[in-house]
Amino acid sequence: MTTLRPFTCDDMFKFNKVNLDPLTETYCLSFYMQYLAHWPEFFQVAESPNGEIMGYIMGKAAGHGENWHSHVTALTVSPDYRRLGLALTLMNFLEDVSEKKRCYFVDLFVRVSNTIAINMYQNLGYIVYRTVLEYYTGDPDEDAYDMRKACSRDVHKKSVIPLTHPVRPEDIDL
Ligand SMILES: CC(C)(COP(=O)(O)OP(=O)(O)OC[C@H]1O[C@@H](n2cnc3c(N)ncnc32)[C@H](O)[C@@H]1OP(=O)(O)O)[C@@H](O)C(=O)NCCC(=O)NCCS
Repeated sequence: MTTLRPFTCDDMFKFNKVNLDPLTETYCLSFYMQYLAHWPEFFQVAESPNGEIMGYIMGKAAGHGENWHSHVTALTVSPDYRRLGLALTLMNFLEDVSEKKRCYFVDLFVRVSNTIAINMYQNLGYIVYRTVLEYYTGDPDEDAYDMRKACSRDVHKKSVIPLTHPVRPEDIDL
């Protein structure tokens, strides 16, 4: 049985196995603490009966006016627990919170090479809103898709009209 519960500071002692995944970003401790302090409602963990972290989602809400939206900062599931529907459960959770907070849309960034995640998000109703050139630094740098899904508050779905041109990281408002 899986327990979905809020992420706590102690979980940072236990999430190494999940974060070892090459597609999962590991941030500095203060970054996680900032999310816990500001947006705890968007930070959920899926835990196994033996207390192991199966996966987690970390997000936030930001923006003004019709740009008020939620953002998926991290979504990851341990290789041992994939294809069980955990990512879908965690995304549904974040989307429910986004609706309650009256967001206009949910967005996220994903590597253009991460076809598994891109297909999953598309099946969930996300569209590629724009390409962010060289968003991921490395050797070589990699572009990101900024994907979006409109919430019910965006009645006319204005937030999901794709941009026709790519942007650079310095042009985006995080
Ligand atoms: C992407 C990721 C979060 C999916 O987690 P998951 O819990 O295995 O996903 P789910 O079981 O909820 O699968 C949802 C759907 O996505 C698709 N999917 C997921 N993994 C897939 C795979 N390996 N191959 C093909 N389709 C896949 C399927 O359509 C699946 O539905 P189905 O199992 O009913 O066919 C997980 O693979 C992961 O942590 N990857 C590394 C980190 C990452 O890429 N995060 C996203 C970055 S933005």
